[in-house]
Formats: sequence, structure tokens, C-alpha cells
Amino acid sequence: MTDTAAPVVFVLNGPNLNLLGMREPEIYGHDTLDDIAGRLEDRAQELGLSVDVRQSNHEGHLVDWLHEAQAVGAKAVLLNAGAYTHTSVALHDAIKGIKTPVIEVHLSNPHKREEFRHKSYVGMAAKATVAGFGPASYIVALDAVLHL
Ligand code: DQA
Repeated sequence: MTDTAAPVVFVLNGPNLNLLGMREPEIYGHDTLDDIAGRLEDRAQELGLSVDVRQSNHEGHLVDWLHEAQAVGAKAVLLNAGAYTHTSVALHDAIKGIKTPVIEVHLSNPHKREEFRHKSYVGMAAKATVAGFGPASYIVALDAVLHL
């Protein structure tokens, strides 16, 4: 169990990330989102933080959760927006519209992949980006919260 009195970090996951574990494992690995959430909870406890891990396939949910992160005073947001990374002006504006620092997270390194993944509307607004470490990207990003 994560200490709920500890500062909370929202970990928001976008479309198709509910399929982690069976989705293109040669790119994304074999861990499920639940596996990753479990590891994040353990690491958060070590760091004196707590995590609130969520996933939605719907862009507007991610926008609402970014607003909520600010409203509840979250310490930071880790955001893997999945494919919305490369398309969503709404997420870009939401990140710019809140004061809560947002760290963009990707399992893969989008810059090593198809050209349409090279543009990130999230990265253009986020404080920082962690990408390419597989599931460990989330842990590296959580550790980085203490350096914000
Ligand atoms: C991803 C990279 C995106 O390009 C892709 O659409 C995803 C996953 C990643 O974590 O590597 O859904 O965000």
C-alpha cells in the first residue's frame, strides 16, 4: 500500500496502454500496466511519494485528469499519452494551462521509430521527457520528480 499522506504523483496513461503485456511485446515488453503500477507504488514508497496510476483510451479523460492533478495539488504528473502524444493540441494546451509539472514518458524511443512519432505535442509543453527505457522509463521519471 502506498502512503496516502505522501505527496501524490499522477501517472496518466493514454490509448492502448491497457494492452501492455500483449501489445507488440518486441517494442513495449511483456510487463502489463498493472505490473508497472505495482513497481511504481513500491518505488514511490521508497521516495516518500504516492502514485495514482490511471489509464484511458479517451483524450478528454486525460485532459480532465491533468486539470484534476492541479486541483488536488499533485506534486507532478507522469504522462504517457500514447498516440495522442503526436496529435493532441488539447493535451498540449492542458499541460500549458496547469502549473503542475508534467514529465512526458514513453516506453519506446519515438525518435528511433516512424517519422509520424517524431513530433510530440506533449513534449513541446512538458517540463522533461523520459523515453526508451521500456517499463523502467516510468521509474526513471518518478525518480526525476525529486529533481524538479
Ligand atoms: C508510446 C509511443 C507512442 O508513439 C505510441 O503511440 C504508444 C506508446 C510509448 O510508450 O513508447 O502508444 O507512447
